Amino acid sequence: MDWKSLAGYTNKSIEKSCAVIEKDEKNIPGAVAIKYFPMAIERAEGSLVWDADGNRYIDFLTSAAVYNAGHCHPSVVEAVRDQVGKLQNYTVVYFYNDRQVRLAELLASTTPGDFPKKAAFGFSGSDGVDAAIRAARSYTGRKKILSFKESYHGMTTASLSVTGIISEEVKRSVCLDPNVIFAEYPDPYRNSWGIDGYADPEALTKAAMDPIRELLEKNHGDVAAVLIEPAQGDGGMIFPPEDFMRQLREMTAREGIVFIDEEVQTGMGRSGKWWAIQHFGIDPDLIVSAKALGGGMPISAVVGRADILDAVPVPLLAYTHTGHSVNCASAEAMLKVVRDEKLAEEAEKKGKLLADWFKDKAVRYPFIGDIRQKGLLMGVEIVSDKGSKTPDKSMALKISWAAWERGLILITFGKSGNVLRIAPPLNIPEDLLQEALEILNASLEDAASGRVSDDILPYLKGW
Ligand SMILES: Cc1ncc(COP(=O)(O)O)c(C=O)c1O
Repeated sequence: MDWKSLAGYTNKSIEKSCAVIEKDEKNIPGAVAIKYFPMAIERAEGSLVWDADGNRYIDFLTSAAVYNAGHCHPSVVEAVRDQVGKLQNYTVVYFYNDRQVRLAELLASTTPGDFPKKAAFGFSGSDGVDAAIRAARSYTGRKKILSFKESYHGMTTASLSVTGIISEEVKRSVCLDPNVIFAEYPDPYRNSWGIDGYADPEALTKAAMDPIRELLEKNHGDVAAVLIEPAQGDGGMIFPPEDFMRQLREMTAREGIVFIDEEVQTGMGRSGKWWAIQHFGIDPDLIVSAKALGGGMPISAVVGRADILDAVPVPLLAYTHTGHSVNCASAEAMLKVVRDEKLAEEAEKKGKLLADWFKDKAVRYPFIGDIRQKGLLMGVEIVSDKGSKTPDKSMALKISWAAWERGLILITFGKSGNVLRIAPPLNIPEDLLQEALEILNASLEDAASGRVSDDILPYLKGW
C-alpha cells in the first residue's frame, strides 16, 4: 500500500504517519489490519485524538466502541496507576485476589436475571466468546452452536468458527470447528425474504423463526447454545424485531439450549441501557462483554448463570493472567463511571439527537438509505438509490475520507461495507458534538458534489 501517493489528495501533513506506516508494513503481517486512513495515532483525551503529525480529530469510532467514557478518563487512569504501582498481577489460578471478585460482583449487579451469577475473565471479545461456548457445551453435554450469518464474534479458532461475516472459503483455510450452524439474522431493511421488517415485524419474525425451528429439529438434542448479538454490529448495526428475540429466548428455554447474549460491542451503556438485550426485556443465560468493559485495558467477561459457568471442568477457564489486577481495577472504575455519570442516559439523549440530524439530511441526500440507532449504537446505510437499496460502498468511503480530511474519525462497516459507523464516546461534550455535525455536514456535501476523487478508493480497504 503506497500511502505516500495519497499525499496529493489531502491537505493534511501526514509525513510522520507515513514513516510509521512504512515500518509497520515491514514488521507487522497484513492480516492484522483493515486500514482506513494514513494515520498513526499518537495521543488521545476525552473525545479527541491526535495523530503523529499533530492533526486533531473528533473520535466517532472510539477505537471500535471501546472508549464509552472517552479516552483517558481520569477515574480509570487513576485506578490503573494506583493498581500498577501496588501489584501488577499475581495469577489467580493458584491464589486469590479481591480485584476480580469485586469486579465480578459489580458486573453481575448490572446484568439482567434474578439468579445466582458468576463471571469468568479473559482479555478480548474473542476469548470471551470461546469461554461462553465452552461453558454451554460443558453444561449441556451437547456440541453444536447456532450462530447467525453476517455475525462477528472474533478471531480465535472457536470465535472465528461461529463468525458469519467471514467467507466460508477463508475460514476453511484455517480448519475451524465444524459444529456450527448458521441462521439468517432478521434484518428489517434488507433480507432474503423480501420483507419490509419495519412495516411488518411479525412477518419478519416468522420468516426468521421458521428456519431456526427447522434447524433445531434437524439437530434435535445436539444444540448447546444459541449465540446472538442483540444488534449485529459489524454486520452494519442491525436491530432485530423485538418479538424475534423474545421467541428465540422462549425456544432456547424450552429446549434446554443456553442463550448467549454477545455484547462485546453493544454493552456498557452504549445502547442507552447497560446491556442492549434489556431493550428486549429478556434474561439471557450468559452475557459476553469486552471492549468498553476494560475502559481501555484488555479484559473480557462471561457473566451469567453460576450453574452454567460452574459446569466447565477445571482448569478450562484458567489463563495465567485471567482476572488480571490492573485490568480488573480499570474495569471496576469504568463500570462506576458508566453508573455514576449516567452514561447510558447520555447515550440515549445524544443518539436521538444524531438520528434526528441524519433523518433531516436524508431529505436532502437520497443516498442515505436507512438510519439505525439505539442510544449511540448507530449505523447509517449508504445506498445508490432508495428504491433498490443497492449498497454504495464507494460513496460511504468517500464520506469517511472527507470527514477524516476535516478532522473527524468516521469509518464504515456492514456486510456490504456501506454503513457509516457512528460510535462516539457516550459523554462527548455538546460543543464537540456540534463541531462533529458541522464536519459531517460538509463531508456529506463533499461526497455528494463529487469533490472526493475516485482515486482514493483503492487505498481505503474498509470492511
Ligand atoms: C460483536 C463482537 N464480538 C466479538 C468481537 C471480538 O472482540 P476482540 O476483537 O476484542 O477479540 C468483536 C470485535 O470487534 C465484536 O464486535
